[in-house]
Amino acid sequence: MTSPEKTPAKAKQAAGFYDRFIAPRLVHCACSLKPIRKQREKVVPRAQGVVLEVGIGSGHNLAYYDPEKVTRIIGIDPNPTLTAIAKRRIETTRLKVEIIQQGAEQIPLPEDLADTAVITYSMCTIPDAAAALREVHRVLKPSGRLLFVEHGRSTQLSTAKWQDRLNPLWNRLAGGCNLNRNVAKLIADNGFNLDEIETYTLPLTPAILGFHYRGTAKPK
Ligand SMILES: C[S@@+](CC[C@H](N)C(=O)[O-])C[C@H]1O[C@@H](n2cnc3c(N)ncnc32)[C@H](O)[C@@H]1O
Repeated sequence: MTSPEKTPAKAKQAAGFYDRFIAPRLVHCACSLKPIRKQREKVVPRAQGVVLEVGIGSGHNLAYYDPEKVTRIIGIDPNPTLTAIAKRRIETTRLKVEIIQQGAEQIPLPEDLADTAVITYSMCTIPDAAAALREVHRVLKPSGRLLFVEHGRSTQLSTAKWQDRLNPLWNRLAGGCNLNRNVAKLIADNGFNLDEIETYTLPLTPAILGFHYRGTAKPK
């Protein structure tokens, strides 16, 4: 017979295994889908100079940087399963890339270092995205630019309500991802002026996941 203490311990172990090994691989696969690749194509080639990529994950964006324009990429991400994949990719690129393995709520880099900050599909997952953006603001040069594409809170009230309802379950299954963050507000509230901003829903994607924010922002 299973003792009452063992069942929660086993459930905790299974959840730990899922978070460590399954969820990162699901995230890696989801982030390589064609509609997502098309979004990367519109954002990442605009980076130039020294680049800080927040939540570099498995390094999907590396294929989209222009080696003629980018001098150095510093990626920050706490997930060891994803950064292990990124490190394998780095070996095959001519870009100069370093990875800092930790959360971006504190970035161990000096201020005014980066010309460009790139954030793609990470503001949904970073536990304290506001703190991470304030750190990005510190590390970016005053003349620098933040490039972003993210899914997030829909401007359609009915969709946003479903995003709120489903968020607790989604968050557990999708490696800490949130469906309902207002990305434009997060950026504007944490040190940036939105320069370009487009909102749209990806075709053939459920509305709760497909609502997108894409644009650029400058430090205030
Ligand atoms: C959906 S994935 C996107 C990865 C990558 N940006 C891309 O476009 O493929 C979300 C990423 O946010 C990262 N992340 C989670 N917490 C973070 C934190 N505190 N600071 C920085 N990145 C974080 C995850 O490890 C994961 O790599």
